[in-house]
Amino acid sequence: MAKGRYTRVQGKKRSTFMLVLSMLFMLSLVLLMLLALGIVSLPISTDDSPTDLSSFRRKISERGDGLGERGEQWTEVISWEPRAFIYHNFLSKEECDYLMSLAKPHMVKSSVVDSKTGESKDSRVRTSSGMFLRRGRDKIIRDIEKRIADFTVHTCRGSGKTITTKENGEGLQVLHYEVGQKYEPHYDYFLDEFNTKNGGQRVATLLMYLSDVEEGGETVFPAAKTNFSSVPWWNDLSECGKKGLSVKPKMGDALLFWSMMPDATLDPSSLHGGCPVIRGNKWSSTKWMHLDEYKV
Ligand SMILES: *[C@@H]1O[C@H](CO)[C@@H](O)[C@H](O)[C@H]1NC(C)=O
Repeated sequence: MAKGRYTRVQGKKRSTFMLVLSMLFMLSLVLLMLLALGIVSLPISTDDSPTDLSSFRRKISERGDGLGERGEQWTEVISWEPRAFIYHNFLSKEECDYLMSLAKPHMVKSSVVDSKTGESKDSRVRTSSGMFLRRGRDKIIRDIEKRIADFTVHTCRGSGKTITTKENGEGLQVLHYEVGQKYEPHYDYFLDEFNTKNGGQRVATLLMYLSDVEEGGETVFPAAKTNFSSVPWWNDLSECGKKGLSVKPKMGDALLFWSMMPDATLDPSSLHGGCPVIRGNKWSSTKWMHLDEYKV
């Protein structure tokens, strides 16, 4: 009798234990499902706070590299067609001044590449002056180029290649536009074989603004598939700037846009130009990135 009772109590204990255990198991399963579905989230970071889908802001952790102090850094999506992003305070004022000081004594009238011969030629569509800075020429340039590589690191899904600008980028080009100077809308990718021999197709462009411009000088994307009159700075744009999605030059900001789709086909919505400067001076620096290693 006693023996039977003993096992019954023990059996009851065991089944209660099993019940609690399975309830705990079910509870964690439900929690995991909720986490997976994104209904609840763990409070890991409160820094990333998407405001809306078209333009989310992402704060970038401050890094100690480079020359001078940079303001608050964050990225902004301005368009998905073309894929275009602004990285605020990408360069410090000191770095902008440094790039301009290196370039100033060597500025020559800008040319465009002849699509048939691959040679440089003078052009009325591009009236700025500029010069190239050798890739990795000094510590400050190397820091900036590393920063560009970190920001633009990207896998081109169609080709399965990883684009890192330290190897795939051309040397930085510094450009100067005076009042009335401009660059008519064009593509950064090439349609000929000659210009893709070194490094393959140009896949992305990072445009850094080294100065503010009082009026005009916007970077305009006339073929952007967005409602470009909805940008907050619409009323400050020049007539040319209102012909598409426009970005106003701001010292230290960088504009990144892709000339290729993620599947490695060319993106015609990446058509872009530099509006004529109306008041002030425009200084910018460009890094073109190729699909493969670009030999310097
Ligand atoms: C585009 O944006 C402007 C300003 O926000 C708005 O007035 C206009 O109705 C929008 N157009 C379309 C087609 O959504």
